[in-house]
Amino acid sequence: MIRSKIAGIGMYVPEKVVSNHELTKYMDTSDEWIQERTGIKERRYAHRTKETTTTMAAEASKIAIERAGLIPSDIDFIVFATLSPDYYFPGCGVLLQRALGMKTIGALDVRNQCSGFVYALSVADQYIKTGMYKNVLVVGSEKHSFALDFSTRGRNVSVIFGDGAGAVVLQPAEEEEGRGILSTHLHSDGTEAEILAMYNPGTHANYWVKDRTLANFNEAEIGEMFISHEMIDKAQIFPYMDGPAVFKIAVEKFPEVILEALHANGYQPADLKLLIPHQANLRISQFVQKKLGLRDDQVFNNIQYYGNTTAASVPIALCEAYEKGILKEKDLVCLAAFGSGFTWASALLHW
Ligand code: UT7
Repeated sequence: MIRSKIAGIGMYVPEKVVSNHELTKYMDTSDEWIQERTGIKERRYAHRTKETTTTMAAEASKIAIERAGLIPSDIDFIVFATLSPDYYFPGCGVLLQRALGMKTIGALDVRNQCSGFVYALSVADQYIKTGMYKNVLVVGSEKHSFALDFSTRGRNVSVIFGDGAGAVVLQPAEEEEGRGILSTHLHSDGTEAEILAMYNPGTHANYWVKDRTLANFNEAEIGEMFISHEMIDKAQIFPYMDGPAVFKIAVEKFPEVILEALHANGYQPADLKLLIPHQANLRISQFVQKKLGLRDDQVFNNIQYYGNTTAASVPIALCEAYEKGILKEKDLVCLAAFGSGFTWASALLHW
């Protein structure tokens, strides 16, 4: 049986470090509040004009490709996860193909927010297992700093997010090698899609204005344009999050999807070498750790230094764990994510 293994991994974070203290210049917040509620000490922001979601992805990808012993023209397929694309369309996949001078290979964009990378990995895994492709580049990259409300009004969201990118190259491995992805588990529930969302620009005609349901909207309030001056004036162009409601669901879905992956393969939490949770909030990771009875050394967290980088957070954390020498070949690793949609997902693998 063929499995897909991570043959190379890379990450890129912008040079500019933004401390919690720095944010107090723009909004009513404090280092104490941010650290206590989220664990975040600092995050990175991309260069305003020189760095985009694609340029950061290209830097991470170059490292992943080199570590896999390949050159860009060896890549057969790209799966690119982001919620902050360079353009509304086309997606970042083709921009990455161009940036790295790859062949005219397929490029697929994944719009699954925080669980985007795990979804993307799952897609790539299927292509490898069926024998369709041999070298698939899977990327998560985000430039959040360009679309956040830095006034006090947006503080519950803007203090959390940071910029960065992570990438892996997936390749086939024989089962006897003892390496590779054992299974992936994907879920969604759109019931509460609007409680963590960026509504504009979009084609929703403002139906979310009233009770966030189509049934309750008032004809007079229907927006006529994809994006309007009114939306900008009313600051409706930034992400919206009902933080406490999202928190409640996150701490339920994370343990559920991690256990699903472990049990599907006959494992228990104690068997894990490392859990790499999406870095949403340190308090969420700590809750999940406690619920699963994991030791500190079994859970990797780096949200303190990068904030929540959405689709990039899992590959950045996995890359750091690898670079710190924490991961040894064949170690049992679980990747897990939860976010806007809601979507949640896990992947269990032997490193
Ligand atoms: O990655 C995708 C999934 N996302 C998540 O999983 C995020 C889940 N949610 C969270 O992480 C947390 O809900 C937050 C970190 C977003 C917020 O923390 P919280 O402990 O849930 O705070 P809260 O929203 O209940 O707000 C408590 C208070 C409010 O003030 P009042 O009404 O009690 O006077 C907020 O206005 O804290 C205030 N507040 C802030 N104060 C200082 C909200 N944001 C800030 C801020 N600085 N940045």
